[in-house]
Amino acid sequence: MTTNSNLKKKKIHLIVGARPNFMKMAPLYKEFKKFPNEFEIKLIHTGQHYNERMSKFFFDDLQMPVPDEYLEVGSGTHGDQTAKIMIKYEEVLFEDKPDLVIVAGDVNSTAACAIDAVKLHIPVAHLEAGLRSFAKTMPEEINRIITDTISDYLLTPSPDGDENLLKEGKPKDKIYFVGNIMIDSLIQYKEKAKQSNILEENNLTKDDYALITLHRPSNVDNKERFLTILNAFEEIGKDIKLIFPIHPRSRKQISVFGLEDKVKSIENLILLDPIGYYDFMKLQMNAKFILTDSGGIQEESTYFGIPCLTLRKNTERPITISEGTNQLVKLETGDIIRATKEILNGETKKGTIPKYWDGKTAERIVEIFRKDDLIF
Ligand code: UD1
Repeated sequence: MTTNSNLKKKKIHLIVGARPNFMKMAPLYKEFKKFPNEFEIKLIHTGQHYNERMSKFFFDDLQMPVPDEYLEVGSGTHGDQTAKIMIKYEEVLFEDKPDLVIVAGDVNSTAACAIDAVKLHIPVAHLEAGLRSFAKTMPEEINRIITDTISDYLLTPSPDGDENLLKEGKPKDKIYFVGNIMIDSLIQYKEKAKQSNILEENNLTKDDYALITLHRPSNVDNKERFLTILNAFEEIGKDIKLIFPIHPRSRKQISVFGLEDKVKSIENLILLDPIGYYDFMKLQMNAKFILTDSGGIQEESTYFGIPCLTLRKNTERPITISEGTNQLVKLETGDIIRATKEILNGETKKGTIPKYWDGKTAERIVEIFRKDDLIF
């Protein structure tokens, strides 16, 4: 055990870059901070997401400090963004020489920082390891495969993650089933979220609306596909109010494709700029159902027991289907409308909460690094 205060503290970098990283890293940051004699923790923000509404709102709601390093990489093509992150983070590594780097999820910042660290022989832990959609057309799948291939600690959220990693030949002793860390944040901030006024502000009440999110390149970067989905929203809006906090990528694509009038014509549609964590959680908890292509929201809706229709051909989170409230919907206007009608007619999928989605994932992870002195 390296808990002796005479020993050198373990210096750990926690990497965040894009919106879905923040709620995964916040609980881990706070848990490590409970052991100031054992760990020196630094928060590194790549700046992949930089709008106030995509980043600062979350730092505020999740009560996170200003990052120790802010790399300001901004948007770009995949090659450009990934390369910029690698160049800037490598400089930080040369300077700071951490003992361990922890990356989360599957965004470009995740893979870029993992590659940097491993090449400098710095161990890497991947939080949310093992998830696979088996669709290499998704940039996230590439990031997952790269990050899992080079990481020393594979921290999985669900047993399917362990199975995927074992099938790929990853050594068993690198795999740790720790649970879903996003749920730690949900549990910690659920009461605060209940106090949000987002329902009143938008004239909504429990169960009288559906919540929409949509930002996957496969759905919004192709005009035909985007229209297929908007046509479905048009029909669904005749039956129930729709609230759609819109991602900057999707907002931009609406204007690129000249779809502004189409969107305006959808009855009962409330379009919002991206909203903070508490407001979004409140909208999820009270929705009749959710229409999404996000990964994290499939999991959060399973935790809240709210029906979730995922507008994708596949999911890297199959446990939300086998145990939770999630279902995949074929990307055809008629199929999307039919699935929502079923819910409105009372045919809702009941689910259970998967193992270790219990608010204690950060504790389990920190225990691993308190005990583990093999590679330090
Ligand atoms: C990224 C992740 C995706 C995740 C999503 C959550 C990758 C490959 N993708 O996708 O897995 O689900 O974040 O949001 O890492 N933009 C802004 N302001 C911002 C950020 C982005 O205006 O703060 C706009 C820019 O026009 C940018 C576009 O959104 O070009 C896309 O941003 P980018 O970071 O490339 O990918 P996301 O679609 O956000």
